[in-house]
Formats: sequence, C-alpha cells, structure tokens
Amino acid sequence: MTTYYSEELIQSVIEANDIVDVASGYMTLKRVGNSFKGKCPFHNEKTASFTVSREKQLYHCFGCGAGGNVITFIMEMEKLPFVDALKFLAARVNIVLPEKQNAQEDHLAYETKKRLYELHRESANYYYKILKTNRPALEYLIKRGISQETIREFGLGYATEEWSRLTDFLKTKGFSAEEMLDSGLVLASENKRHYDRFRSRIMFPIVNPRGQIVGFGGRLMANGTNGPKYLNSPETPIFSKSYELYNLNRCKNFMEDGRLFIVEGYMDVISLYEKGIKNTVAALGTAFTPFHGKILERYASEVIIAFDGDSAGISATEKAMNILKKTSLNVKILNLPVNEDPDSFVQKYGNEGFNNFVSKALTIVEYELELLKRNNDLTQTDGRLRYGNEAIKILKQLETSVEIDYYSKMVARETGINQEVIRREVIRSKTKQSANPGQLIEVDQKGTFTQKIPKAYQKAQELAIRYCLITPEMIDGFPMDYLTEQFYKDLLLTISERIKTDRKIDINQVMSHFDESEEVQKIVEFMMNEEEVSRLDYQDALEIMNRFYNEAQLDKISEQIKRESTNGNDEAVARLTNQFIEIKKMMKENGRH
Ligand code: UTP
Ligand code: MN
Repeated sequence: MTTYYSEELIQSVIEANDIVDVASGYMTLKRVGNSFKGKCPFHNEKTASFTVSREKQLYHCFGCGAGGNVITFIMEMEKLPFVDALKFLAARVNIVLPEKQNAQEDHLAYETKKRLYELHRESANYYYKILKTNRPALEYLIKRGISQETIREFGLGYATEEWSRLTDFLKTKGFSAEEMLDSGLVLASENKRHYDRFRSRIMFPIVNPRGQIVGFGGRLMANGTNGPKYLNSPETPIFSKSYELYNLNRCKNFMEDGRLFIVEGYMDVISLYEKGIKNTVAALGTAFTPFHGKILERYASEVIIAFDGDSAGISATEKAMNILKKTSLNVKILNLPVNEDPDSFVQKYGNEGFNNFVSKALTIVEYELELLKRNNDLTQTDGRLRYGNEAIKILKQLETSVEIDYYSKMVARETGINQEVIRREVIRSKTKQSANPGQLIEVDQKGTFTQKIPKAYQKAQELAIRYCLITPEMIDGFPMDYLTEQFYKDLLLTISERIKTDRKIDINQVMSHFDESEEVQKIVEFMMNEEEVSRLDYQDALEIMNRFYNEAQLDKISEQIKRESTNGNDEAVARLTNQFIEIKKMMKENGRH
C-alpha cells in the first residue's frame, strides 16, 4: 500500500484501536473460546461465521472469505480508501496524524473530493427546489405515477432550459470555476463561457452507499428534443459509472431475504419503489460490470435480473448473467414480455402482479434454454435436433446429478429425444472437460504451473505455506517452483526478508506489502486457521506436491516426445527421453525413503 505515513505511525494507529472494540460498534459479537463471533457484516448470513481474534487483532469470515485487520475492516465498513480509514481510526483514539510535505498531494485530493460532495449536495437541493415550483415538471412525474413522497425520498429535481442557472447559483455559493468544471455539472464553451450540462431535464441524484451524492442522471421531459433521452454525469474524481449502482444506498436497507433486483433504468427503480418493491438497483447507462458484481456480492445472496423485454434487454441480460455466474451470488432472471420493462409492468399489474411474476423467475439454465427455444423451430426435425445438441452444451454447466436429471427431462419433453440419452451425453461431455488427475497439472517451459490445480495439491500447498508462516526459517529451503501462484512466492519471500531484520513476524506489516484485497484476505485466512500443522504434516505436504509436480512434468515431456517423434527430430527425442528417465529415477528414490 502506498501511503506517505511511516509504518511506525500506521502501526501505532492499529495498536491503539482494538479490533474487537471497533467491530463491536458495527455488530453484536459474542465471546466463544479465544475469539469473538458474530454475523458477518459483509455478506448476508443466518449463522455467525464472522470471527474476530483479539490476540491476533484480525478478523475473518469463514462464510464469505472477508478478512483483514482493523484498517481493512473500516475500509470495507465505511467504504473508505486506505488513508481515510487510517484518519478515521486515528481520530477515534485522538491520534493527530502529521501533515507531511509529500502528504500535500493526497491531502489536496481529499479536500477536493470533500468540496465536490458539497457541490453536489447544493446542486441537488437547488434542482429539488426548482422542481417544487415547476408545474410542467411536477405534472410529468405525477402522470408517470410518482407521488410527492417518492419525489422527496429520491430527491428528484428539475433543471430548467436556462443556460447557466446552476452555474450562477454555484458561484453565489462560493465554488470556483475549477471546482464547477471538475464536477462535470458545468461545461466551458469555446469562448470560455460557463454553462450548465443539464438543461430541461428531470434530475435524478445518484447517491453512494455512504449517503453522498456523487452524480446525476437527467431525463428529457419530451423525447427527441435537445439531445439524448437520458444524460448522465461524466466520470469525475468522485463518480465512476462502472462502480456506482443507482439506489444501492436505499436498497441495502430492504433486503431481509438477501435478495435484490437489477433493473435497467432510473424509472424502473422509482416506479417499483412507488409500488412497494424497494430492493432494486440499476446500472447507470452503461453495461453491468464485474465491479458491480463484486459490490453486490457484499450485500446480497441472490440477484434477479429484471431487464427490459426487448432485444437490447435480452443481450444485456446475457452479459450480466455471464458476469454474475462468476460470483457467489444465486442468479435468477425475470423474463419480461417483449414490450415491457419493470416500470410499465408494475404500473399495469401492480405489486401483486409483479410478485406473482417474480415467483416464476427462471434459473440461468432455464433462461438459456428458453432463448434457445426461441431461436429454433421445434416443429421441424432439424430445429429440434439443433436445439437438443445446443441444450446439452448448456446443461454441461450444471453441478449436481439431480439438476442434470431434472433438466434432461425438460429437454426430452421439448425434443422427443430419450431423456437417458441426453443425461448420458451431458455427463460424457462433462467428464471430457476434466481430464485424468495426472494431466491436471501442466507446467510450462520454466516449470511453472499453467493449468487447473487439483484439490489435493491446493490443500498440500496451503498447509505447507501455513507451516512456513509459523516456522519462517523453513522458507530458505522451500521449493519455490512448486508454488502455483506468484502471490504465494511473494508472501514467503516477504516474510523471509522481514525475519532477517525483525526476528518476529508482524503480520500487519507483512500485509502492508500487498495491495490486492484478495491477497490480504488469503493471508488472513492462513493466519486465522486454527488447525495445527506439525513438521510431519509439512513433510507429507511437500511429498504430495513433489509427486504431483513430477508427474505433471512427465506428462509434459511425454507429450513433447510424441510431437518430436512425429516431426522426426531424433535428437530432441533422445534428450527428452533422458529427462524422462531421470525424473522417473528420482521419483523412485524418493518413494523409497
Ligand atoms: P431506457 O430507454 O430503457 O429508459 O434506458 P427507461 O428507464 O425505460 O426510461 P423511461 O421509462 O423512458 O423514462 C434505461 C437506462 O439507460 C440509460 C439510463 O440510465 C436509463 O435509465 N440511458 C438511456 C442513457 O444513459 N441514455 C439514453 O439516452 C437512454
Ligand atoms: Mn421505461
């Protein structure tokens, strides 16, 4: 982590803030043996798998894998960047952080952002006040079924057609030209005149989960006049479309069941809210991104994609679905009729009609089969056969035989193909994907792993690393080539460097060398693992790794031998064969000990 504060200072802030006390401010923790347990604040759960250790000053959730020290806890909880979390914790215990020379730049960024938040708040208030006295704008919203109360709740506003009404207002509030331009709400013309970005538009403030207004969306009241139907804030120091989700700030308070809806537009969110469906978010004018997926993982356990029923909505659904497949979220799809969006649907059928429809939401596989059905004529033989073959590819992603059985039956019904044939075909193409264990590890020229790592190997590797963490003197002789990830190598090397100067490893200092939250989480996971590792376990683990590694190399070499002999390259064949024999011999000797 790059910051201008010294490690000592960071350390003293960490030490002054006991993690159990800090976490207790956000959740209920119960003492269990040596540690404290509670319901994880970072994901939705019924059992308490969130563990805090006073002794180690770390937290870890066995459910979602979140973990870290008191600083990462505040970063996550308060959604603050590192330096701000440090400031937050320092203030909590009255430590004054010095403003150093090179701190200037960062401090400036912090102040700039603070001013931008203020500017947005003032602007939202201003737009709101204008709306309250603007008859046509109010009537437009009322005609779309939005009540006064919802207008207030969402802080909706109106930007009139005048060229510089907001600009003039912000000037009177003391904002500089630079600040106004930075906010994206004010633009400069060629002759340096300043004017408002949003004119003649209903304004939707975009609020982040910390309650700060970070941008706006604006909708034309009459389609076709003055540019695009919706206009959004540009990327600014406080706003990025790929991270922000409209209404997440409210949605997170309405998800008792851990479930939320993803919709396409502002009006879908607001209309559903008006009808009592409040657990919704919308991506902002751009596609749903992997960052959005990551963010939702923190708040929800199930998401229902409820995009427009038109062809644009279908392709957006497929994209979002593929992103969400890679998360831990349970995904469902609401397959709306072609010319409806959630807004129009709930206006027509009301809360009950909507919820009835939700109970018929499709799983990913059901949805993919549904699309396949639409694209093939099942009254024709060739259509049915094509459908059957494509369906098998879809069913391949299923995990359990119960699911495979269930969906095979469904496809059998659609095509008239025998269910058992489909089931067998699915299982056959699944096993084709995962080759036999010997071929699972693949090493490249340099001897590093390039392929999927078998579970047994992963387990042995983690155990070996854990042993090295408690016995760092082992690291010097550790076979680094066996490690499947650069991060593991970096971790062991960092520790062995540290140990030369510090004698004792301080895990907080080790963690500060790693930027990726996934890496920090992994370190914490290693440290919080209470299972004992003996020297014997360690030796077993190394042996397992050794065997897998050698076998992988043998596979690789025999493949090369095959290739070279078809090429007629006798020299290479001889060289490779020797290598092969050497490894075999070594393995035999190792096996004897
Ligand atoms: P839609 O065109 O589906 O709008 O765009 P909508 O939500 O149904 O709006 P109404 O009902 O006509 O008022 C969905 C979303 O795509 C983005 C906006 O975020 C919008 O809410 N969008 C749309 C743009 O950014 N620019 C556009 O010109 C249109
Ligand atoms: Mn709409």
